[in-house]
Amino acid sequence: MTTQPLQVVVLAAGKGKRMHSRLPKVLHPLAGRPMLLHVLESARRLAPGRLAVVIGHGGEAVAARLDAPDVAWVVQDRQLGTAHAVMQAMPRLERSGVVLVLYGDVPRIATGTLRSLVDAAAENQLAILTQEVDDPRGYGRVVRDGSGRVARIVEERDATEAERAIREVNTGVVAAPFARLEKWLESIGNANVQGEYYLTDIVGAAVADGCPVAVRRPQSATECLGVNSKRELARLERLVQLDRANALLDAGVTLADPARLDVRGELACGEDVFIDANCLFEGRVTLGDGVSVGAGCVLREVSVGAGTEIRPYCVLEEASVGERARIGPYARIRPGTELADEVHVGNFVEVKASTLGRGSKANHLAYVGDATVGRDVNIGAGTITCNYDGANKHRTVIEDDVHIGSDVQLVAPVTVGKGATVGAGATIVKDVPPGGLTLTEAKQVSKPGWKRPRK
Ligand code: UD1
Ligand code: CA
Repeated sequence: MTTQPLQVVVLAAGKGKRMHSRLPKVLHPLAGRPMLLHVLESARRLAPGRLAVVIGHGGEAVAARLDAPDVAWVVQDRQLGTAHAVMQAMPRLERSGVVLVLYGDVPRIATGTLRSLVDAAAENQLAILTQEVDDPRGYGRVVRDGSGRVARIVEERDATEAERAIREVNTGVVAAPFARLEKWLESIGNANVQGEYYLTDIVGAAVADGCPVAVRRPQSATECLGVNSKRELARLERLVQLDRANALLDAGVTLADPARLDVRGELACGEDVFIDANCLFEGRVTLGDGVSVGAGCVLREVSVGAGTEIRPYCVLEEASVGERARIGPYARIRPGTELADEVHVGNFVEVKASTLGRGSKANHLAYVGDATVGRDVNIGAGTITCNYDGANKHRTVIEDDVHIGSDVQLVAPVTVGKGATVGAGATIVKDVPPGGLTLTEAKQVSKPGWKRPRK
């Protein structure tokens, strides 16, 4: 149990050259949100008293993008090493309790792992997180003495042949009591191959100080993976997505294939929800009880009522769908759309900034934009609201129980009165009175004996 105050320092000053991008590395999105935000969230779960993030030259973009009022941003102008980076943050911390050091590019460490490290450090010792790996290349190696106690960490570039063969590696995450950490940091020099102040040298310093070094292991083999390249980012994305999929499965959601799901935001599901392969969820999406989402759908900032079926290949954005509705296949529901219960929107129908009342249907090939549609309305195939006059958008109002035939143009602003029927092919430019039939048909003419032109 941690009783002392906890403070977290996140190192994020590195340039991330291997990302080959103008975007600072820690802003690259993971599951739709900046990588660093994932690290801040793991830190916040530990309820630290202080949370400091070390950013480099040009790091203002990072601070601006994340808008995190609880973070003390610390600028490290030149990247002189991980120990130097931590030193920049020390004046911003409380001079007591435990300091936990995280990396801004290692975004998936389990909370339990971090807690075990902090708890170990709370016993007035240095705690390091290490791992046995098959391929230790690139990592600092954990050197143990003859009796198996940790003696120091050696960076790969400074290691001897024999040390390079060590497979126990440093994940980089450490926790230590403030006062001891401060003292050890002061003792660290930069006489090494890279000419950097290595945070890893605090291990040797602690040993020289007679301070015990507690070693903790991560709960899983992959949680300490960091991001240095787009390949590593892609790999981590799949791991984070699998975490999400597993959480949904554990909550009772049926996924056709947990490896073919992308959640880039928060997906809240009721009971007995089914999600078919290759769906993408962005922002806040809520699916009510018994909702099914067909293959290949994209839903962003959408709420879907209980019992509704979203058929394959639909795109829904900033919209709400009622209960027992049927959408798609191939429907596009654009921002500002509210579909009531039992609405049917079928294939190749686009709906924008419109409300459709209970039980209304637009089943084939239609555009409904800036429209207020009542209950039990039937919109025929090929019907279009002509909402745009080249300068302004105008509204179309279709009252309850209207039937619009196929291929009708409704030139807005226009109102179709309650219970009216509009004949196929009409171009409606004036308000339609309630009830009755409104037609604008051209006369049908047949020319007997007419010959088709020949080549
Ligand atoms: C570091 C560890 C190594 C460990 C590895 C795990 C040291 C000396 N080495 O090596 O033992 O196996 O992580 O991934 O600590 N950073 C700053 N300012 C600096 C330098 C780095 O903020 O001056 C930040 C980076 O942005 C990054 C983190 O610290 O988030 C680690 O730096 P990096 O250069 O990647 O360290 P490694 O050489 O990988
Ligand atoms: Ca690294």
